[in-house]
Amino acid sequence: MNQSHKFIETNMPRFMEELFGLLRIPSVSADLEYKHDVKHCAQIVSSHLVQIGLTNVEIFETAGHPIVYGEKIISDDLPTILVYGHYDVQPADPLSLWDTNPFEPIVKKTEVHPEGAIFARGACDDKGQFFMHVKAVEAMLASEELPCNVKFMIEGEEEIGSSNLGIFVKSHKSKLKADVILVSDTGMLANDVPSVTTGLRGLSYVEVEVTGPNRDLHSGLYGGCVQNPIHALSEMITRLHDENGKITIPGFYDSVVELSFDDREEMAKAPFSEASYKKALDITETYGEVGYTTPERGAIRPTLDVNGIWGGYIGEGAKTVIPSKANAKISMRLVPNQMPEEISNLFQSFFESIAPKGVTVKVHLHHGGEPSVTPLDSKGYLAAKLAYKQTFGKEAIPVRSGGSIPIVAMFEKELGLKTVLMGFGLDSDAIHSPNEHYGIFNFRKGIETIPYFYKYFVELNQKPQ
Ligand code: BES
Ligand code: MN
Ligand code: MN
Repeated sequence: MNQSHKFIETNMPRFMEELFGLLRIPSVSADLEYKHDVKHCAQIVSSHLVQIGLTNVEIFETAGHPIVYGEKIISDDLPTILVYGHYDVQPADPLSLWDTNPFEPIVKKTEVHPEGAIFARGACDDKGQFFMHVKAVEAMLASEELPCNVKFMIEGEEEIGSSNLGIFVKSHKSKLKADVILVSDTGMLANDVPSVTTGLRGLSYVEVEVTGPNRDLHSGLYGGCVQNPIHALSEMITRLHDENGKITIPGFYDSVVELSFDDREEMAKAPFSEASYKKALDITETYGEVGYTTPERGAIRPTLDVNGIWGGYIGEGAKTVIPSKANAKISMRLVPNQMPEEISNLFQSFFESIAPKGVTVKVHLHHGGEPSVTPLDSKGYLAAKLAYKQTFGKEAIPVRSGGSIPIVAMFEKELGLKTVLMGFGLDSDAIHSPNEHYGIFNFRKGIETIPYFYKYFVELNQKPQ
């Protein structure tokens, strides 16, 4: 490990420059205007894999954006680690809220990143994080310290639901044969509180359209005489939660696995300050399901949120109009054992049933994903714990996250593999938001910690069963 460590220290400035190069490419998967940039990004990622010495590096075209693959097979007798990450990023808008150009990375110091953080779209989610794996493997290869086989699969459609990766995984099972999947696309509690993510929520995503009259109407001539679709939609949205913050969709909680008292107590050991949470968000009160703490609401409980709502006149000045239509996008975060399709269907039936007279409702079901959990007694989790201990000098805390990476459940189903989520981002790194950033400390610590995961994972696999 010592040689790798030295290599990392000496080469950090170059690693940073290379990451900057990736961050300058606007690989926004959701917007087809960026299709060529996404493709270009895949090419640059693949050239990085070639450059560090991987073999069989290939760009797989899909019906959407390409998947980059590469491997280093040392021996069939050694374990294989499959690294997954994504090179696509969320759209950068609203651009006006960025302090600097989202695709021109710049280093600035912040309160939680006194050493500096890299500001750019994708810095933390996920270019900065998957690139740590590329550099860690480079360091191990250059120092002849790579202790096992490694495969890389870096996709370009995570932010839009990974549907083509799902197809790729199903049809390339033997190519992807491995012993564990390793991912850095989540966060940790704080730079001095290392944690390993042991669960992800699932996702159901729907879009609704409420239609009233067949055209926009003069609000003076028709106001008060017809149902206003915006009123109807607002009323329906309000009915999705009760006064205790519970979701009112019949059957919504039926398959939810309740945590035991012991599990909840264990969870409560992770440091959390309600006061700093509120301060960081400039809010005076938190909100949520009665009977659960903020960390519980955000990780082990299912939730429903309106992500966007539109309709009527929103231009400058006043226009007196009753709109014909009102729309909303709604996401539901799911926990074990809620199934996205089932939940989406329950939503649809309920939402249609609560439409007031005078409007019609259409519900469109988008992509979804299943929740997942990593067992605390798996070799992968244990190896991660040992690795953090080595580089942070502290025990990592297991934490279930509220975010979703739908492909993780798919890996388990199709490849029979558990995923280890070694994320190094912080909640305050503003992923998906303006001014996204990633700490230089976190980038370096990630590159340093990953080789220890390899070392301990191999050791744990050598031990007699
Ligand atoms: N990397 C995130 C997920 C994440 C972030 C999990 C932090 C845990 C902690 C991922 O890129 C993401 O944004 N996922 C989407 C879902 C996807 C289907 C669009 C999400 O969680 O909204
Ligand atoms: Mn991500
Ligand atoms: Mn994301």
